[in-house]
Amino acid sequence: MSESYDLIIKGGDVVTPNGTEKIDVGVKGGRIVALGNLESATSKEEYDATGQHVLPGAIDTQVHFREPGLEHKEDLACGTAAAALGGIVAIFEMPNTNPNTLGPVELADKLSRCENRAWTDHAFFIGAAEENVDELGELEKLPGCAGIKIFMGSSTGSLLVEEEGLLVDVLKNGTRRCPVHAEDENRLRERFSLVRDGADPTMHPVWRDPEAAVLATTRICRLARQTGRRVHVLHITSKDEMPILAANKDLVTVETTPQHLTLSAPGCYEKLGTFAQMNPPIRDEEHRLGLWEGIRTGIVDVLGSDHAPHTLEEKQKPYPASPSGMPGVQTLMPLMLDHVNKGNLSLERLVDLTSSGPARIYNIAGKGRIACGFDADFTIVDMNKEETISKDWLAYKCGWSPFEGVTVKGWPMATIIRGMVVMKDGELIGDPQGKPVRFTDTEPAQNA
Ligand code: DOR
Repeated sequence: MSESYDLIIKGGDVVTPNGTEKIDVGVKGGRIVALGNLESATSKEEYDATGQHVLPGAIDTQVHFREPGLEHKEDLACGTAAAALGGIVAIFEMPNTNPNTLGPVELADKLSRCENRAWTDHAFFIGAAEENVDELGELEKLPGCAGIKIFMGSSTGSLLVEEEGLLVDVLKNGTRRCPVHAEDENRLRERFSLVRDGADPTMHPVWRDPEAAVLATTRICRLARQTGRRVHVLHITSKDEMPILAANKDLVTVETTPQHLTLSAPGCYEKLGTFAQMNPPIRDEEHRLGLWEGIRTGIVDVLGSDHAPHTLEEKQKPYPASPSGMPGVQTLMPLMLDHVNKGNLSLERLVDLTSSGPARIYNIAGKGRIACGFDADFTIVDMNKEETISKDWLAYKCGWSPFEGVTVKGWPMATIIRGMVVMKDGELIGDPQGKPVRFTDTEPAQNA
């Protein structure tokens, strides 16, 4: 008798740990159960991936979805819809909402708001602060928690851990890898006079200069070693940080973003003004190329979008009153597939940065790899499809993207999460059924 599956993905070029293979994928009960020639098998559902690449589901480990408290900018329903439309299967959301995510109550609230509203799987970071420092070791283990986020430099919101003693206490209280926003608060404060009385946005990377990033990255690497705590330095923006990070790869992992790899100063500020303003800033071409060198040499582990939407009205305020941040969860994969087509990285390296990398650094259970036993999460892409990023396609509540009008080659055709086709040909399908992401180091019983 022939095997039967819930879903078979047929005829695609499948990116597995063995390389890229023309095989079929059999899915049962939300998991991958067969890889190979499934010609004679039957299934309830079939996805014809002829001419397409089947990638492990892409995971965006840095988004700000603004709910609760800032829903005029974004919310969990729209943010995860945008993610699914962009080929993302799971997101990790940051704690600078209102209220900040500082404890079990706020975490449980975010998780319950996701029920029947989140299109993708999800987990939430808890923010480190003076008031929760003693509980961090317990808090980081809560189901649905991705870990503890540290803001060393202030950005949108009030979260900040600046003082050395507090930073050491945060790092000592817990064991999981901490994502860190590394900009030196002292230097930012000292240099704020450069922009205080009005300046144009080209001054943003002058105020928040590479030295501010280098100082904080050097400091967090030193403290990671001193305390033995693993950290993940978010959105690296300068070539100058790469050697520091390379010298600490045993403890420290690294993220950069598609926007820092794609845009550069001064052109991005001349074209987009405050819409290119984010923290840490987009820098000049020399730094952009330095980030690509970090990709090429393996220093960078992960790409995160740092999806940080603000409304058009907010972004139109004169600099520096304009808030920092830009949306990006929906364009992460399209921009990066275009970079693959331009020869800037291989498709396999992209998978390393968006699937295996996130799974490896955060101990995600059952995701990040096309292998039997793993969640049936797939980002199915057409490497030859050319599309122009348009307002019509964007699901963002803020309604804009710095990449509107940009034509890319390479496009997400389907997003499959635990065997469910959530997006196909640019349309969301069914109802939102996202679930909390599980982690191998914190939820062993639930993973059994
Ligand atoms: O530009 C940014 N905006 N950087 C951050 O770190 C936070 C973010 C936001 O939440 O708006």
